[in-house]
Amino acid sequence: MDRRDFLLAGAALSLAPACASRLAAGKSLRVAPARQSLAGPGHPDTAVWSYNGAVPGPELRLRQGERLKIAVDNGLAADTTVHWHGIRLPNAMDGVPHLTQQPIAANGGRFAYEFDLPDAGTYWYHPHLGNPEQVSRGLYGALIVEEREPPAVDRDVVWVLSDWALDRQARIDEEFLSPMAASHDGRVGNTVTVNGLVRESFAVRAGERIRLRLINAASARIFGLVFEGHSPTVIALDGHPVAPHPAARVVLGPGMRADLILDCAAQPASRHRVIDSFYRQSAYELLELQYHADKPLRQAFAPVAPLPANPVAKPDLAQAERHRIVFGGGAMGRVPDQARHKGMFWTVNGEPMADQHDHHGHPPLLDLSLRRSCVLELVNDTAWHHPIHLHGHTFRVLTRDGRPPPREHWSDTVLLDPRSRAEIAFVADNPGAWMFHCHVLEHQATGMAAVVRVR
Ligand code: C2O
Ligand code: CU
Repeated sequence: MDRRDFLLAGAALSLAPACASRLAAGKSLRVAPARQSLAGPGHPDTAVWSYNGAVPGPELRLRQGERLKIAVDNGLAADTTVHWHGIRLPNAMDGVPHLTQQPIAANGGRFAYEFDLPDAGTYWYHPHLGNPEQVSRGLYGALIVEEREPPAVDRDVVWVLSDWALDRQARIDEEFLSPMAASHDGRVGNTVTVNGLVRESFAVRAGERIRLRLINAASARIFGLVFEGHSPTVIALDGHPVAPHPAARVVLGPGMRADLILDCAAQPASRHRVIDSFYRQSAYELLELQYHADKPLRQAFAPVAPLPANPVAKPDLAQAERHRIVFGGGAMGRVPDQARHKGMFWTVNGEPMADQHDHHGHPPLLDLSLRRSCVLELVNDTAWHHPIHLHGHTFRVLTRDGRPPPREHWSDTVLLDPRSRAEIAFVADNPGAWMFHCHVLEHQATGMAAVVRVR
């Protein structure tokens, strides 16, 4: 069998109807080194770091309102934590070392996470240490919270998108925080995987309706996906419902997610490219949608219904307190004084934050009183993109460059284009010390991070 036959054989099996592989409560995640074939047969394996032996880690799939209980065992020779990106959970479960918990000690440390899942949607988990190393070595996985009554689809599929800097022997480049990458776009790798493997194709059946959940787990790469010959409908962003709308290109900064309804309306046995054209000079084919020869499952598709809203409090814009937050620095910008801030390239309101071990030493960027509505004006005063992420809360994107977005939109991460601004609004209804940072992990580690305190 050549590689293509092999992939097709595997894909045919996955055409079985969606049946939720739900992780039983009380399971555990073991963090440990592993070996994995990223480029597929005929290429060397890569030494990775994994949850339960594979990249991505196990898909955790629960239902809205359920409680996630999971013990994390650390089999690495390095400390770690697990952050549950996008989940509105108690601060002590947020997984930020030294800020919300002690690190899970190297060589045998253990931490039991346990929290309720108030919101349905597509979330993910990853370590939250100061250096991007652990994510760049493969530590991440999907956390799917199903609606109480999920929309009818033929398959519910997750694509964890990630990006690797590999050498010719498929070994991971161990310079995780080069000054060059950190002061520019971050570490954009040379190998892109979908669910931990470079894919040639993804098998679909004509007439099939797929819910496709995209998660950008890369440390720095921004994706801009175009589904040639198809018109996917966006139904959720960062887990939260948005009015269903077609998207010619789905743009996801690091940390961001989108849920699509992909109606497979093309001809049996046809093939269609999925292109990532975010970086226009280096567009490439992510994979091909490969249609089975079988006759279509259906001839016409029902309209896509909106998902039920999550119970997120609406900010009171008239009463909101307002703050302006300026992100600065980076190449072609005013880099912090290297005598005072060694290795720091970025600032938040003029100050770099060294890394998370420093949090206790820094006053919070904002001190918000519990249940206050807040509007933050985020100003990107740099020549680079920054996906800005707030922990513990879900915010509404009010404006971009002064204009409201085309439809109401809730998120936990907002992608700021170079020299642009956005206003976000939320109710500070979750007490604790929360990270607020750029999700280009090399930017986060070199100054673009802060703490927002709610009490
Ligand atoms: Cu996805 Cu502060 O993290
Ligand atoms: Cu950034």
